[in-house]
Amino acid sequence: MSRPTPADDLKSIPRHIAIIMDGNGRWAKERGQMRTSGHRKGAESVRQVVEGCSELGVEYLTLYAFSSENWKRPKVEVAALMKLLQKFLRDETPTMMQNNVRLQAIGRLHDLPEACQAELHQAVQTTATNTGMTLILALSYGGREEIIDGIKSLIESVEKGHLDKAMIDGDVFGKHLYTRYYPDPDLLIRTSGEMRLSNFLLWQVSYTEFYVTQKLWPDFGKEELREAIRAYGNRHRRFGGVA
Ligand code: IPE
Ligand code: IPE
Ligand code: MG
Repeated sequence: MSRPTPADDLKSIPRHIAIIMDGNGRWAKERGQMRTSGHRKGAESVRQVVEGCSELGVEYLTLYAFSSENWKRPKVEVAALMKLLQKFLRDETPTMMQNNVRLQAIGRLHDLPEACQAELHQAVQTTATNTGMTLILALSYGGREEIIDGIKSLIESVEKGHLDKAMIDGDVFGKHLYTRYYPDPDLLIRTSGEMRLSNFLLWQVSYTEFYVTQKLWPDFGKEELREAIRAYGNRHRRFGGVA
């Protein structure tokens, strides 16, 4: 994929952006509405940001859509989120095709309701040969769970004789994570002001630039995305070296 030169006010475009989409509930509460209406509005932000990233030449966009811990929420809210996910996949697949976006998913996907898994599988298959941006949905995802699954997979490789224990390093381990096909995120955005990772990409964000905005996710759109990328352009990434 050829990378477009950054829009003139943006110094550099991150190759991989990851987003903790937070604040749907607060957005709804501010309006005296049900939390689910915040999630519905949040889905519109997803549409905007996918389009915005794709237009700017971002290669990978990972969206934290449902965490391992989110299963603890009230049953009705979980059910509404799963329905919304299905609706999103159905409605957005044609747009992803138009925009040459390839859909992928990470997490313990087998824990999702079967109807969601089927819809997800369908959308992943349909978009599989698209060559533009890769959109990765983190679903029933937890960073610790991913690391545990990675360790189990490593042990299995060693036990089967496919891997020599002495060869295990960060790169080898990375090949046993859900994210093995993608580079680490360059920029991590969190909406709604919380300064925490909430179990997101624990291994992968070791040198990622963080950007936290007070904006609630349903109020986050293309302009806010540009603002985050602008801030990223002014960071000095040293990776432990000297400038
Ligand atoms: C993010 O918004 C959406 C998900 C976690 C699925 P929240 O639902 O966490 O909204 P707040 O944090 O309660 O405002
Ligand atoms: C993180 O948000 C998970 C997603 C955005 C999917 P949460 O709202 O679940 O995180 P906490 O509870 O504020 O840490
Ligand atoms: Mg939240």
